[in-house]
Amino acid sequence: MKTPNLKLITTEDGSHSLYREDLNETYHSFRGAEGESLQVFIKEGLDAQLSKTNQRSITVFEVGFGTGLNAFLAAKYASQHQVQVHYHSVEPYPVPKEIYEQFNFGKSEEENSLVQALHAGAWEEPVTISAYLELVKYQCTLEEFDGEVRADVVFYDAFAPSKQAEVWALDNLKKCFEMLVSGGVLVTYCAQGQFKRNLAAAGFEVETLPGAMGKKEMVRGLKL
Ligand SMILES: C[S@@+](CC[C@H](N)C(=O)[O-])C[C@H]1O[C@@H](n2cnc3c(N)ncnc32)[C@H](O)[C@@H]1O
Repeated sequence: MKTPNLKLITTEDGSHSLYREDLNETYHSFRGAEGESLQVFIKEGLDAQLSKTNQRSITVFEVGFGTGLNAFLAAKYASQHQVQVHYHSVEPYPVPKEIYEQFNFGKSEEENSLVQALHAGAWEEPVTISAYLELVKYQCTLEEFDGEVRADVVFYDAFAPSKQAEVWALDNLKKCFEMLVSGGVLVTYCAQGQFKRNLAAAGFEVETLPGAMGKKEMVRGLKL
């Protein structure tokens, strides 16, 4: 699969993101890529689940590795809180090296090496990124994914339903539901009505939370 044309952009909080020309869509909120990822995926996903369960080891499954920003922030969180994170991510279109080597997510040389390691590491096999994070990237779509992951948290970070409705289809949500342990959650920035109805139809308890970076709402789905 050839990666479509991508442009490096800077969002309003200073963090980089990407713009995909064929879809006329950005990878994050233009108000702030880092701010959005931190609130939706790290705070309301990873941190909320660890606080709820007191686990010291957690498995994340991400839909859309993209810039690797969520994985990077999860790696930082894991080191700061000394919890083991097993991070699985699917991505049909890996970001080319000439783009990812420019990412400004790292605030130090050490953090920048972490960002680069997340991208440069092998696909389809576990890669030790740090003492606290192991990463497995799969080059495929969620629809194609047939791995055996038991996830505590799903980061559902696909392009908006208005751009890629098929990725938000009921079958994909059911697949994530099946992958989750009982008590596990799916988090996403999206709060579209049809998506919430699909989430409920897939078996989730749907919770609407305040959104990130000026967005009214985001969603967390719980598997009871
Ligand atoms: C909104 S971007 C976010 C990516 C990433 N989480 C980040 O923070 O940069 C959506 C990502 O989903 C990927 N994608 C597109 N179709 C997909 C599919 N069917 N299954 C999984 N990922 C998909 C895109 O290539 C893109 O990298």
